[in-house]
Amino acid sequence: MFAFLIYFLILIFLLFFLIFMTIYIISLIYSSLKGSPYVATKNQRINEILKNASLKKGKIFIELGSGDGRVLREAVKKYKVIGIGFDINPLLVYWSKILSFGIKNIEFKIQDILKADLKKADYLYLFLMPELIEKLRLKMNNELKKGTIVISHGFKIQGWEKKLFKTIKSNPFWTFYYKK
Ligand SMILES: C[S@@+](CC[C@H](N)C(=O)[O-])C[C@H]1O[C@@H](n2cnc3c(N)ncnc32)[C@H](O)[C@@H]1O
Repeated sequence: MFAFLIYFLILIFLLFFLIFMTIYIISLIYSSLKGSPYVATKNQRINEILKNASLKKGKIFIELGSGDGRVLREAVKKYKVIGIGFDINPLLVYWSKILSFGIKNIEFKIQDILKADLKKADYLYLFLMPELIEKLRLKMNNELKKGTIVISHGFKIQGWEKKLFKTIKSNPFWTFYYKK
């Protein structure tokens, strides 16, 4: 009887694990189809990236495609900015909310970044594929206020060469800083 119970519990555990993994994999495919796969900014890089943005307390920091929210959390905790993260992947948004439990001035929304409101941003962080950045460029041109700092990790913003004021060359991804 005891052996049967253990066998049954293992079976239930495996079933939940399989269901979770299936949902997780589907959500990753969904992220990729919507424009950018989920690849997190390396934890060891976050401090350097944020330090170079000279973030100011109380300003609005928007992350487009916020993944598990690690960059936004660090910016809010360390630099006291107001953080808003947008991601198309519901699983990542819920996970970000769980990881950010108890942190003030941070929120995560399930939203296509091409429909997100960027007008309030003082800082914008993106780590996205070039094709999605290209689609975003017109929106950034139209919506971002003058002076907004745009930090693009991984890829340059084509057509914004004159706005580029700083580059951090680090492997595997460089980081580019623009001023609108
Ligand atoms: C390369 S990951 C970066 C994650 C996070 N910014 C980081 O640096 O750790 C790109 C993220 O963009 C999200 N994404 C892809 N296409 C999107 C879209 N159209 N709208 C919103 N989020 C999108 C993905 O779900 C993924 O979490």
